[in-house]
Amino acid sequence: MKTAAVVLAAGQGVRMKSERAKVLHEVCGRSLLAHVLEAVRTLNPDPLVVVVGHGAEEVKAEFKGERVVWVEQKERRGTGHALAQAEAALKGFAGRLFVLCGDAPLVTPETLAGLGRAADGRLATVLTCEVEDATGYGRIVRSAKGDVTRIVEHRDATAEERGIREINSGGYAFEAPAVFDAVRQLKPVNAQGEYYLTDVLPILMKKGRVGAFVATDPAEVLGVNSRRDLALATSKMRDRILRQHMDNGVTIVAPDLTYIECGVEIGPDTVVEPFTVIRSGVKIGSHCEVGPFCQLRPGAVLEDHAEIGNFVEMKKSRLGAHSKAKHLSYLGDATIGARVNIGAGTITANYDGVNKHPTVIEDGASTGSHTVLVAPTTMKKGSKTGAGAVVTKKTMGEGETWVGVPARPLRPAPPPPAKPLTPDERRKTLIAPKPSKRSGPRA
Ligand code: UD1
Ligand code: CA
Repeated sequence: MKTAAVVLAAGQGVRMKSERAKVLHEVCGRSLLAHVLEAVRTLNPDPLVVVVGHGAEEVKAEFKGERVVWVEQKERRGTGHALAQAEAALKGFAGRLFVLCGDAPLVTPETLAGLGRAADGRLATVLTCEVEDATGYGRIVRSAKGDVTRIVEHRDATAEERGIREINSGGYAFEAPAVFDAVRQLKPVNAQGEYYLTDVLPILMKKGRVGAFVATDPAEVLGVNSRRDLALATSKMRDRILRQHMDNGVTIVAPDLTYIECGVEIGPDTVVEPFTVIRSGVKIGSHCEVGPFCQLRPGAVLEDHAEIGNFVEMKKSRLGAHSKAKHLSYLGDATIGARVNIGAGTITANYDGVNKHPTVIEDGASTGSHTVLVAPTTMKKGSKTGAGAVVTKKTMGEGETWVGVPARPLRPAPPPPAKPLTPDERRKTLIAPKPSKRSGPRA
């Protein structure tokens, strides 16, 4: 069966109170929409259509180069109206059409696969879930027999319907083109005066079967409408990420005090201490020690057995095997070899106010406390700096030791002073003999 997908992402997200398009807000280092696209791509949809509207240009720019068919919804007239805008992009498509909300970032590939399986022989299948607090969500209304009959929005629901805890996730598997016939019949008769996509269910029911697929984890259906929802989604995603690393053999000493974004690689037997922040794209080898209190930013790479300690920030930098930066450092745009010791307070001054410059620290080198390496600077193998050295755009030779401000190589020790003079010799130098007058012979 052919598969296509539409992601609805045109809404303004008024409740976010933001100038940015809602779907660009981030959860664990990746936008809401990026999370949804990542999950939906596992279904191999062709085409993958995204409906944009509010902040359309900004959203498209963020996903430049990705295989997505962009469709614009000029006026936001509801989720049903949004799907209608995708009809032209899906002209001639017959098969299973997944429709997902761009603001529900926690849906997993497994759940989407389950939704797909449940959709066999149905015109529509809604992804639902039982939640503790259903406030704001559409409620799933079932018949006495338990069949789904319709979805009622929170605002339109009676007090009794608001008591229903099974909610609409906003994700569906439809049969196309049947769903588009139904969409054309929608009417905006509800509290918001919008075309609700949820209203296609009673319409499709007249032609064939509709049903639900119930997700087990309420986190999966969490829709982000406010900053509070964003924080909640972040905390759920963070838990999920930490669990994956722990399952892979990483020790996370205090999960509640550790923030690791998505797209981070960590090798087994690495220990992550509390108050550590690790951003997307960081790669950490095995047997490393990370933290407490450090930030690894994008482009940071730690080779096996490397150690990063408190108040160390790394960005776009590589720390070689068995190398250490244990205290109070900034390492940016730096390539650091193996068995290097970065002394407490060492800073790579990579930015001159206009451009960023690289620092290279070769194998076995070490920096004294409070060293500043003004980039571009290279420390060749085994070289050292003294405490407080400021190396300004220099290449330090192999094995050399540089000290001072600005730092200079230490010269070989000066020759020892000459042997002290004897008192006699001294007197001679101090009391120079008076030049004797040449006296002529006496008359
Ligand atoms: C919607 C569902 C609700 C469900 C909830 C799950 C409807 C009518 N309601 O409500 O049953 O419980 O999602 O999170 O469908 N969008 C557009 N164009 C529009 C309006 C919305 O593209 O004109 C997009 C939004 O960007 C968003 C998604 O559709 O990604 C859902 O819209 P939103 O306004 O957040 O709907 P909810 O009120 O949350
Ligand atoms: Ca929503």
